[in-house]
Amino acid sequence: MKKVTAFVGTARKKHTYYAVHQFLDNLKSLGDVEYEIIALTDHRVEMCRGCKNCFRKGEEFCPLKDDRDVLIEKMMTSDGVVFATPNYSYQVSAIMKMFLDRLGFVFHRPRFFGKTFTSIVAQGIYGGSKVVKYLDFVGMGLGFNVVKGSCTTALDPMSEKERGKIDSIVEGHSKRFHAGLSQPPYPVPTLFKLCGFRAVRTSMRVMLDETSRDFTYYRDKGWFEADYFYPTRLGVLKKATGSLVDWFTARSVGKRDGQFEET
Ligand SMILES: Cc1cc2nc3c(=O)[nH]c(=O)nc-3n(C[C@H](O)[C@H](O)[C@H](O)COP(=O)(O)O)c2cc1C
Repeated sequence: MKKVTAFVGTARKKHTYYAVHQFLDNLKSLGDVEYEIIALTDHRVEMCRGCKNCFRKGEEFCPLKDDRDVLIEKMMTSDGVVFATPNYSYQVSAIMKMFLDRLGFVFHRPRFFGKTFTSIVAQGIYGGSKVVKYLDFVGMGLGFNVVKGSCTTALDPMSEKERGKIDSIVEGHSKRFHAGLSQPPYPVPTLFKLCGFRAVRTSMRVMLDETSRDFTYYRDKGWFEADYFYPTRLGVLKKATGSLVDWFTARSVGKRDGQFEET
């Protein structure tokens, strides 16, 4: 049985919730899935103050006391994760963005490997596909295996035809996600992901030291020596490209020694 958790960032239970419910019910009927819906508005999600303690010293040094760790634990214990939001001003809703900012340190120290992610966006007219792209990129940055999300268009009042279109988009999306849940959890990384990993880990190795949580996290995970975040079999081309990226990064950040500031 796979556990799927949807994190929904909206103050009202309308079109985003409709899509999320349809999506999860479809998954359940496709088999072997149980789900939970987390309304971000039912949790304490505070606004990041930008102190960067989490980046430099560790997330336990965050001055905010909210439900961040409860929500992270929910993701950690799930096989599949969905981020759902209405399109507000061509972006995610404010509560969803606050939630993402609370996860900021995870982009530095990704951890959701082996889990499947997708996004659901409800829009009125325009801009939702870019929000889907954004959220899918966020999912990748957090370490998930991403299944392309979906955007549904909902204007009130809604015709039968419009409702049918939404249902069909969500149905296709749930089928793709269900298939994604049974894919190998640790796929061989794409060249893009591999190069990203190598550039970041080499920059950290060269420019940071034991006083930085990013450095100790990567070191303790063995990521300074590893092929990738998790054990994988790289082909000859990827091996060579990875080494080249390591070499090139060490050379270019080495030249800027002392100027590196953790973002
Ligand atoms: C503050 C606000 C900003 C919005 N901005 C956009 C937008 O940029 N593009 C768009 O297509 N719809 C926009 N909408 C419409 C919502 O995306 C649309 O009504 C959506 O269905 C809301 O989801 P909900 O029914 O789950 O609340 C906006 C709505 C609000 C309240």
